[in-house]
Amino acid sequence: MIRCFNVRKTYPRGQVALDDVSLEIERGELAFLTGSSGAGKSTLLKLIYREELPSDGQIIVNGRNVATLPLSKVPYLRRSIGIVFQNFRLIARKTVLENVCYLPRILGASMKEQRDLAEQALADVGLADRSDAFPLELSGGEQQRVALARALISKPELLIADEPTGNLDAELSREIVELLVKAQGQGTTVLVATHDLQTIERHGGHVLRLEKGRLVEDTQVAAPGAVADEARE
Ligand SMILES: Nc1ncnc2c1ncn2[C@@H]1O[C@H](COP(=O)(O)OP(=O)(O)O)[C@@H](O)[C@H]1O
Ligand SMILES: [Mg+2]
Repeated sequence: MIRCFNVRKTYPRGQVALDDVSLEIERGELAFLTGSSGAGKSTLLKLIYREELPSDGQIIVNGRNVATLPLSKVPYLRRSIGIVFQNFRLIARKTVLENVCYLPRILGASMKEQRDLAEQALADVGLADRSDAFPLELSGGEQQRVALARALISKPELLIADEPTGNLDAELSREIVELLVKAQGQGTTVLVATHDLQTIERHGGHVLRLEKGRLVEDTQVAAPGAVADEARE
């Protein structure tokens, strides 16, 4: 699903954000990108959804080489990727339903199709009754669930989440992580940047750790349940 070969990213004023990063994330995985602040997590995600271009190396996302993808093809790439951010990035003057409808609307769906899709997406994140609210009338956890509904409305092949629980307390974080795991269970490849190690221990998955722009760990961590199952065999 995602392959990076010797990726390097240097920002204009010379900081090396990523240095010789090679990795592979398989279709259907739950992958965690960890590492301290400034390690390069957001940069790697931006390269994958082509917000930034690599300075060197190759990045293949779902068979497309994003570094050489013409700008005119970027919207097609983006449609196959759902993205959520730490600060939700909802449009404050639009209702929850209008926020969630964004993609079907720009793709030209009818009003009825938009509403049906958005209601389903909101029901999937447990917010069926909040369609007409405005984002700032919701709690942080609810706003992040709206952002997830918006990201998942078109059943993207890949969901990218950049510190999605960074602004939430432990319990709300758990709810958001459960929704990410649910999306993975429905076939979406999920890549989450987080420094919440407890989440990783609880769920297991593919752990990629960056340190000062270098990939220093690339391991499959078993969920605690899976370890217990193996021990019984
Ligand atoms: N737009 C930018 N311009 C210049 N330097 C940047 C930019 N974005 C990130 N950096 C630098 O790149 C490094 C990695 O940043 P980032 O990818 O945001 O790390 P993380 O998400 O792990 O905190 C940091 O040193 C940061 O200061
Ligand atoms: Mg970041």
